[in-house]
Amino acid sequence: MSNKDTTAHSASKTNSQWGGRFSEPTDAFVQRFTASVMFDQRLAKQDIQGSIAHATMLETAGVLTAEERDAIINALSDIAADIANGHFAWSVALEDVHMNIESELTKRIGLTGKKLHTGRSRNDQVATDIRLYLRDEIDVIATELTRLQQGIVGLAEREAATIMPGFTHLQTAQPVTFGHHLMAWFEMLTRDYTRLLDCRKRMNQSPLGAAALAGTTYPINRELTSELLGFAHPTRNSLDSVSDRDFGIEFCSFAAILLTHMSRMSEELILWTSAQFNFIDLPDRFCTGSSIMPQKKNPDVPELVRGKTGRVNGHLVSLLTLMKSQPLAYNKDNQEDKEPLFDTVDTVRDCLRAFADMIPAITPKKDNMRKAAMQGFATATDMADYLVRQGIAFRDAHEIVGKSVAYGIAHNKDLSEMTLQELQQFSPNIEHGIFDVLTLEGSVAARNHIGGTAPEHVILAAQKAKADLLTR
Ligand code: ARG
Repeated sequence: MSNKDTTAHSASKTNSQWGGRFSEPTDAFVQRFTASVMFDQRLAKQDIQGSIAHATMLETAGVLTAEERDAIINALSDIAADIANGHFAWSVALEDVHMNIESELTKRIGLTGKKLHTGRSRNDQVATDIRLYLRDEIDVIATELTRLQQGIVGLAEREAATIMPGFTHLQTAQPVTFGHHLMAWFEMLTRDYTRLLDCRKRMNQSPLGAAALAGTTYPINRELTSELLGFAHPTRNSLDSVSDRDFGIEFCSFAAILLTHMSRMSEELILWTSAQFNFIDLPDRFCTGSSIMPQKKNPDVPELVRGKTGRVNGHLVSLLTLMKSQPLAYNKDNQEDKEPLFDTVDTVRDCLRAFADMIPAITPKKDNMRKAAMQGFATATDMADYLVRQGIAFRDAHEIVGKSVAYGIAHNKDLSEMTLQELQQFSPNIEHGIFDVLTLEGSVAARNHIGGTAPEHVILAAQKAKADLLTR
């Protein structure tokens, strides 16, 4: 390869990286409008990682000498350190993270720097960078999600026998244990975790070498760059490689479902801290006060998590709409993928951190939960099941219990508070044993099967969950 610098023009008139065929400089507004460096500088670390792999491969292909490769790698490592320390001057005139770094490289090592871009394009470069970035973030998010689940399962184990009302239609339905309720949250998050890993697996392929869209004429080794970057294998079609943003959509889908789950948890936490429910206490450090009402302690953290679900759902819709109807291959539209993606990452990380810190610090108000479970005839189904065991058909049993409940409402008494004589008005088949099933403890203990709310089973479920978390 010749080492002569054959370019005559400088950066002053037109862009030095693609301005060869242009006769006037870019309009100042257009320059700003088309630039992405303001936000894609976040990809700097991965951009350099990709460039180092590319340079390493170019040497094995005979495109770079070993000295050129080393000069490039050393300078890129220095640039990476400067960026990490905040000693890098980003320039909007250089459009994006890729051209800012490449231009700096050339500034530092001259002509050799200009050889780095041989056999690649910003199109496969950016597709590689985002995958590397998202892969890194997924690993952080997976760890944080696991930390949240650890907190939930710990609380569930402690509260395996704590009784609270279970709801359908937000009306008292049957007694459940608080531990069981928490393990329901755990299940939602396990599905999110596996969705996240699926997404990571599908995204973990190397687009590098697809170049602009059709591949390249240089004797590149895509397997090598893929391996150097820790990808499972190279992507299989160059057109698809530079245009595919499914991985971003999948990640945002994961995030939207996760935040939807977290918004449901938030809603329950908010209800439970209200004076009307008064089921739990959140530590003061996770709450804020009111500037006018001195008595207020507001559950701001869960409220904000609930609110942030809106922006995360919005980002998913942005990406889906961004990709809709896009012809192959790369289009500048794709530059719009980054801000929704980055904000999704930030939001998910913050929400998980807040919840992972807060959940283990919840104090359940067990007496209040219990009192609430006593209201609303939560053991009515247990009474019907008892009557069925006494030989009565379920529909008739349902009717008998309905009448007993009506009596209870009229006399302001729970089923368990009625005397045997009172209960026998509704069926002669009722005997003293009824009181065993009308207690809250009897009700939950009876549901002792896979997926049931019995304290004994909740302990087992929590232990199994803890063991599963250890294998992650
Ligand atoms: N900044 C661009 C993006 O984020 C990089 C790729 C640009 N490629 C191009 N052919 N203009 O998508």
